[in-house]
Amino acid sequence: MPVARYHGFAQALHWLTALALCLLLPFVWVAENHPPGSERVFWYLLHESTGICVFLLVLLRLTWRWRHRPPALPRRTPRGARWLAQANHGLLYLVLLVMPISGYLMAGNGRPVPVFRLFSLPGFPTFDALGEWANSVHVAGQYALYTLLGLHVAATVWHVAVLRDGLLERMLPAQRPAPEDERTP
Ligand code: HEM
Ligand code: HEM
Repeated sequence: MPVARYHGFAQALHWLTALALCLLLPFVWVAENHPPGSERVFWYLLHESTGICVFLLVLLRLTWRWRHRPPALPRRTPRGARWLAQANHGLLYLVLLVMPISGYLMAGNGRPVPVFRLFSLPGFPTFDALGEWANSVHVAGQYALYTLLGLHVAATVWHVAVLRDGLLERMLPAQRPAPEDERTP
């Protein structure tokens, strides 16, 4: 039976978000291992700018999802698994909004926030208590993100390796049939 897939646009946004996260995390790890100076500022600039891209991607994804229902899961999917998948996806969206917002409240505290040195988001007057609170949220939020992503990828691997129910194909473009398949009646 053909697999019900996410729309190509939703797939593209999904994999772009994943790519952006795979970049912005190393950016900040590199930044934190540099002594204060222009190189450190540069890696933070990349982290912050990519984080703002994630925020925009998530807004776009949520807007798309609001207008387009995701493809139905196979009917035999247990209720518990449906619930877990929905909770995982919902919490991922939530964390991916909280992280950039807390990042901006931290970075924009008293200075503008440059985006890839193309333009800057406005900063706001220094407010130490807000900066500290945003920093705690941002630092703690990363562990929520790691946990949710770990579960997300582990669940996908389980579906691919054990259940073999074509779940990953839902998030991948359809393969064109091989020429000889096209010839077979
Ligand atoms: C690294 C960052 C990632 C994020 C933030 C992320 C987030 C999400 C979200 C929010 C959804 C739900 C889409 C929706 O219904 O609106 C989803 C679906 C999905 N993701 Fe990811 N994902 C990531 C990486 C991955 C990776 C690495 C894999 C594969 C190993 C993967 C496989 C899937 C699959 C198969 C679905 C569809 C699940 C279904 O049909 O219910 N994702 N992802
Ligand atoms: C999805 C988006 C984001 C994720 C997943 C993320 C993740 C992280 C992580 C893991 C750290 C290291 C925390 C630690 O010290 O252990 C960090 C630090 C930081 N992030 Fe983000 N970030 C995101 C977006 C942003 C944005 C949009 C900005 C600013 C506009 C930003 C600004 C910062 C700053 C200034 C730090 C340094 C905090 C410190 O040294 O205490 N982040 N981020």
